Amino acid sequence: MNDHKVHKIGVLTSGGDAPGMNAATRAIVRTATYYGLDIIGFMKGYYGLVHNEFIELNNRSVSNTIQRGGTFLRSARCQEFRTEEGRKQAARNLEQLGVDTLLVIGGDGSLRGAHLLTEVWQGQVIGLPGTIDNDLAGTDYTIGFFTALDTALDAIDKLRDTADAIDRVFIVEVMGRMAGFIAQGVGIGGGAEEIIVPEYAFDIDTISEHIELAKNKGKVSFIMVLAEGAYEGGAMVLSQVLTEKTGIACRPCVLGYIQRGGSPAALDRILATKLGAYSVEAALQGVSGVMVGLINKELSLTPLEKTWTEKKPLDAYLEKIQPILAQ
Ligand code: F6P
Repeated sequence: MNDHKVHKIGVLTSGGDAPGMNAATRAIVRTATYYGLDIIGFMKGYYGLVHNEFIELNNRSVSNTIQRGGTFLRSARCQEFRTEEGRKQAARNLEQLGVDTLLVIGGDGSLRGAHLLTEVWQGQVIGLPGTIDNDLAGTDYTIGFFTALDTALDAIDKLRDTADAIDRVFIVEVMGRMAGFIAQGVGIGGGAEEIIVPEYAFDIDTISEHIELAKNKGKVSFIMVLAEGAYEGGAMVLSQVLTEKTGIACRPCVLGYIQRGGSPAALDRILATKLGAYSVEAALQGVSGVMVGLINKELSLTPLEKTWTEKKPLDAYLEKIQPILAQ
């Protein structure tokens, strides 16, 4: 199995934390020790790499972590690593520590960093998709996405209670950076009357008509899910605009960072565990410059660059049926 003579692995979690990062780290550590490899964890993402802040990891360091949200390795968005000098310092640290393989768990920014590191460091670099946004090509789902959906759905179910009781439109803004995966998922799962995502064009007048039509048809509540980045000013501004246009009180609800927290859902734990173990096995086979993922239930390797240059589409069938279901 150890075709590539890997002896020491480094792992870090980077960027916006996502539920399931701990489960991925746990699987990495236990798989690495099973194959007789040494493993260290860099603290606070690339910050730990640049500043040589790390901890030795063993099977017991990851006990009782699979169910925990956040990341015990901590995370950060590291400015220094965006500079070439920062990355060269990171490469020097990796060499001094004798690390053969670096595993990076994070979203597109973190994987871009991993790709840039391959230009200044000869070791192996493998990415794992860790972000609630699900906006990476090369995997059907990212670690953290399922939990974020459940968290946002729980909030929307509660909003539905008050929306049913009082004549108001609720505009729920969910995270996702510039991608609508969370919005589409919770919009469908929460039975939203309207879903607005950056991927599809929309028109304010048409939305106003939908609100008025729903009222005329006797709908008691109207919930609109808005993806972060789809409308300038977000739910705050959109609610004012629509209140003025329709004369119906529209209220914003920005879910924000609670979507990144919580104990990982079952599917996130399973995905994280599978990809964590596979990343170590892929390292032992000698691959580098790739992200591990799951496509149609098959484990896959995708060149790092492709994970952000290629755009993963939203579910077109869900887009098609949403207006039918919102009648
Ligand atoms: O990528 C995860 C995410 O939560 C996005 O949905 C959001 O746009 C961004 O991170 C927020 O970033 P920060 O933690 O830097 O405020």
